Amino acid sequence: MRMFGYRELSKKLDKRNLPKHIAIIMDGNGRWARKRGLGRVKGHEQGSKVVKRIVEASARLGVRVLSLYAFSKENWNRPHEEVDALMHLLHKYLLSESDNLIKNGIRITVIGDLNSLSPTLRDLIADVRRRSGKNTGMLVIIALSYGGRYEIVEAVKAMVKDVQAGRLGIDGITEESFGGYLFTKGTPDPDLLIRTSGEKRISNFMLWQIAYTELYITKTLWPDFTREELIRSIIDFQKRQRRFGMTGEQIAVPEQGKAGVRGA
Ligand code: FPP
Repeated sequence: MRMFGYRELSKKLDKRNLPKHIAIIMDGNGRWARKRGLGRVKGHEQGSKVVKRIVEASARLGVRVLSLYAFSKENWNRPHEEVDALMHLLHKYLLSESDNLIKNGIRITVIGDLNSLSPTLRDLIADVRRRSGKNTGMLVIIALSYGGRYEIVEAVKAMVKDVQAGRLGIDGITEESFGGYLFTKGTPDPDLLIRTSGEKRISNFMLWQIAYTELYITKTLWPDFTREELIRSIIDFQKRQRRFGMTGEQIAVPEQGKAGVRGA
């Protein structure tokens, strides 16, 4: 089979139909390391280098939002050396990459249970958010100590507070207003969710937001993921018909239906 290079693949992309928001479950760092007889942390280190390349490539392609699942709430149960190493890598990434990203117009934010992070990492996150806040280029969302169920419960709590305080009526509780209480408020839902390493699970990632997201599951382990495969995933996405519960015929004649309608 003929393999296309980056340039050739880029030409196959329909620039008018790019996913606005790509979310990635970066999985397989441990297996990548094990295959090479290395410790798991080496896999995370390599994974971190791939993060840098994929962030840059996504911004260059014109993706508006890139969400990266870096550490789940459940990941706190891993051996503490691995947790420490991951926190260190995240700290290092923000420290070493933020100036360059910010200079290139990229906005960076972190979502999750930030209270469980070290004060040093929290301060760094606050600083990066503040310095990049006015940028208008691609938004990078790093999900850290994140859980989709946790996010939904936090949103419910905030919503109930507003109801109790009289700021929100029961009729004001809608799918749209609920979205405004999530960590991702103001950002479009992911159009494309990539999961590496072949596992066919969502692992508690953006449960609310991915209701109609297209899934791309690849056997490639995250440390082996390349910008070429990123493009291949987008080309695959562009071949799909997103129906949002409507029929194929309605999509072909959009005036007859209304995007976003829920259905079968
Ligand atoms: C899952 O692979 C990966 C993680 C839990 C961590 C992801 C972190 C990075 C890619 C590096 C740091 C991130 C940033 C944003 C700089 P796994 O360890 O579960 O792999 P396995 O299933 O093969 O064991």
